[in-house]
Amino acid sequence: MIGLHNISAHLLDIPVTVRRIREVLDRTGYTESCIQQLLDVEELPMYPQRWQTLPLYLWRARGESRLQILVRLFLLQQSISLDEVRHVIEPTDIEDWVEVGLLHVNGCDVMATVELCPYGSLVVAADWSDETQPNLHQVMGIAASSRTLAQAIIPCHSHVTLDLGTGCGILALLAAAHSEQVVAVDSNPRALRMARFNALLNGTTDIEFLEGNLFEPVRGRQFDLIVCNPPFVIAPQQIYLHSHSGMPLDRLCETIVRTAPVFMRQGGYCQLLCNWVQLAGADWRARLETWFDGSGCDAWILHSHSEEVADYASNRISNLAPVAAQREKQFNTWMDYYERERVEAIGFGLVTMRRSNRSSKWFRCESWPEMVGPCGDAIERGFVARNFLEDHGDRDLLETRVRHAPNLQWRQDHDISDLGTAVHSSLHFTSGLAYTAKMDSAIVKFVSRCAGDRPLSEYLRETAAISGEDVCQFSPRFVKVVRRLIELGFLLPVQRPTHQPES
Ligand SMILES: C[S@@+](CC[C@H](N)C(=O)[O-])C[C@H]1O[C@@H](n2cnc3c(N)ncnc32)[C@H](O)[C@@H]1O
Repeated sequence: MIGLHNISAHLLDIPVTVRRIREVLDRTGYTESCIQQLLDVEELPMYPQRWQTLPLYLWRARGESRLQILVRLFLLQQSISLDEVRHVIEPTDIEDWVEVGLLHVNGCDVMATVELCPYGSLVVAADWSDETQPNLHQVMGIAASSRTLAQAIIPCHSHVTLDLGTGCGILALLAAAHSEQVVAVDSNPRALRMARFNALLNGTTDIEFLEGNLFEPVRGRQFDLIVCNPPFVIAPQQIYLHSHSGMPLDRLCETIVRTAPVFMRQGGYCQLLCNWVQLAGADWRARLETWFDGSGCDAWILHSHSEEVADYASNRISNLAPVAAQREKQFNTWMDYYERERVEAIGFGLVTMRRSNRSSKWFRCESWPEMVGPCGDAIERGFVARNFLEDHGDRDLLETRVRHAPNLQWRQDHDISDLGTAVHSSLHFTSGLAYTAKMDSAIVKFVSRCAGDRPLSEYLRETAAISGEDVCQFSPRFVKVVRRLIELGFLLPVQRPTHQPES
């Protein structure tokens, strides 16, 4: 494998060269938004999709602008003439790019040895994927899973954050924005070299990189935030370190969940993407819940979906072999494995756990709503809301004050049928965890009036009067609805200011 292969200690001696390379990229407009515009895509596709749609992207990136040439070089893996590259990277020298391991010159042609993926204002190097020669140590670029976790990271102020399985370092770089210190661990030495390079390329100097298995390199340390996008694919073979753990079934994710609490500070969070098995005749939620037994953590699973094993295997092996006959052989091996282990389906989701010193711990597993933009804040508010509900019995709850979330929209759909028209009313979020809840107009109006100024008992009396109901009979239903609205974040508890003694 080529690309950053020869980069080890000496890379760290050349940060000035890397900074100048980054200046060239910036001057060219090598950013996520400019490249999305150039390729006319809403999200930059991963390498396999880019490869499948190559003629279209090549057509869109045709032309002689600096950005078009760099996109063809670093995202579409095209060979470009030496003269053109020299012109595009001015005022840097091609020797610099070759020395740091980004370019390879062959006669009069130049190829990029790694891909350069933009993400927001970051640019990260990762390996090209080559299904004809799968390499265990290939470093994954920014995948759909990386993007998902990036959007879900709780942006709390963290003294020390751990990125477990850092790969190209994208999550560590993002976490650095709200962490005083970041530690990035990977068992793949090549990934650590790539991540170090990416830290330099993005001007971040305060990430500590450690090589080793899972938590071993950080034994004895504790973190405010742990993020982990593990090699969660459930497979009978280990083809890539970034995807396949080599452990049976979902043992890796279980191990991370069971081990993480010792490494979490009180009140600290751990977030990881997971795949889990759904075994014949067993309740998968109950099985997942056992992972958290005795963890000392509250746990919230957001379940995105489950796939039947045949779909799962077919989707996962499509990029593992170039030849149909090889893929068929692999598919059968995977299916035999699932049958032996009695796996019917595989679940996908996000685990967020928070270490808590409260006497009782909770476990919540529910559907993952659509994410609209970053949703880490909403996840953190979900933990606060659940603890608030646990702390307040129904009577206490009615004495508290709540306000509605700021990002809500009321929808009314009018269905027309032979019987006339029917109105369906729902409330939904416009950003974050975009829950939608069917809700009749009276409840929506109640939510919209909640401004945190009066206790809920006053709203109970008002709402009962509007709907002509007896307050005592209405109260249990009202409280049940309010609890659900708080749980989903439509209503937010308002902290009452602590009483200041008069001076
Ligand atoms: C799915 S990739 C995630 C990379 C990156 N964090 C991201 O989100 O794009 C998983 C990473 O975990 C690393 N890894 C696999 N097994 C590991 C282990 N036992 N200990 C530490 N890292 C491991 C792989 O080398 C790979 O870089």
